[in-house]
Amino acid sequence: WRQLFLFGLLALALSGCGKEELSALTPQGPVAAMQFDLMKLTASIMIGVFIVVVLILTYVLIRFRKRPGQEGIPKQVEGSHTLEIIWTVIPFLLLIIMAVPTVTTGFTLGKEYNSEEALQVRVTAHQFWWEFEYPDLGVATAQDLVMPVGQKVQFTLTSADVMHAFWIPALGGKIDTNPGLDNKFWLQADRTGTFYGKCAELCGASHALMDFKVEVMEQDAFAAWIDKMKGVQAVEPAKAQTPLAVQGQQIFDKSCLGCHAVAGKGGKMGPNLTNFADRTLIAGILNHDDENLAAWLKDPQKVKPGNLMPNLNLDDEQVKALVEYMSTLSVKDEQK
Ligand code: CUA
Repeated sequence: WRQLFLFGLLALALSGCGKEELSALTPQGPVAAMQFDLMKLTASIMIGVFIVVVLILTYVLIRFRKRPGQEGIPKQVEGSHTLEIIWTVIPFLLLIIMAVPTVTTGFTLGKEYNSEEALQVRVTAHQFWWEFEYPDLGVATAQDLVMPVGQKVQFTLTSADVMHAFWIPALGGKIDTNPGLDNKFWLQADRTGTFYGKCAELCGASHALMDFKVEVMEQDAFAAWIDKMKGVQAVEPAKAQTPLAVQGQQIFDKSCLGCHAVAGKGGKMGPNLTNFADRTLIAGILNHDDENLAAWLKDPQKVKPGNLMPNLNLDDEQVKALVEYMSTLSVKDEQK
């Protein structure tokens, strides 16, 4: 019993109960709500079936147990049309009760919305990070998905390498991202705030670390964010201010820009870093501070095994300069 109790506690802890930002059990949008309704329906039917089966089993075990003085095998029963009809019809009805709402919800969730009806976002999954593009708005970002509140967002999802799955438990999901294929689905957030997303398909050494953040903003704040990103991404990166940051920018332009874009310049191999300083997490998992950024730059493999960022073998001073420069990559008005 003690082991069972501990196991129960462990299961509860692992389920992430109580963490609204990462729980499918506290839906924060219509898609998550529909999926949660299906979960409740199927779970209650399954629990009902389990209870009935256990009750009948217990009754039979007690009622027909071997009694003292009993000899031989009791009278055997073979075939009963009534029983067979009952245990065929009941599961059939239960399956219908589950199938009708499941299929209906499936069609509702599978509906595609065009640019006039929903914000379009293109998601590309990479080992082990997320790329988010707003094709109609000409804006690209990574790791932090920004969404307006109360509006449908139509996602088109693909992968740059292996199969991943896109999942924001509090808002709904999940859906596979496959290389060479576009999958579509939509989500909506009914309140502002920060939510967390996960990769839900085993995709390599750092699958468990392939997290992302979802920032749900008021409509005006979202429009303002888009405007700033657009403004910044149309131009060359601004010149760094302090001498240390200038040195950092030189290192960045030489070693990082080939893979990472900042403003309107750079490669697409790695996450777009235009608004890097505004993100609260580094690589989707570390708290954003200078120390963690330095640790990441010094040895990315140690933090996220198997990721594609090479170790640049930077010395402490170069790391310091890079950290200084990267902390200027912000589209917010006031610098952190
Ligand atoms: Cu990507 Cu698991």
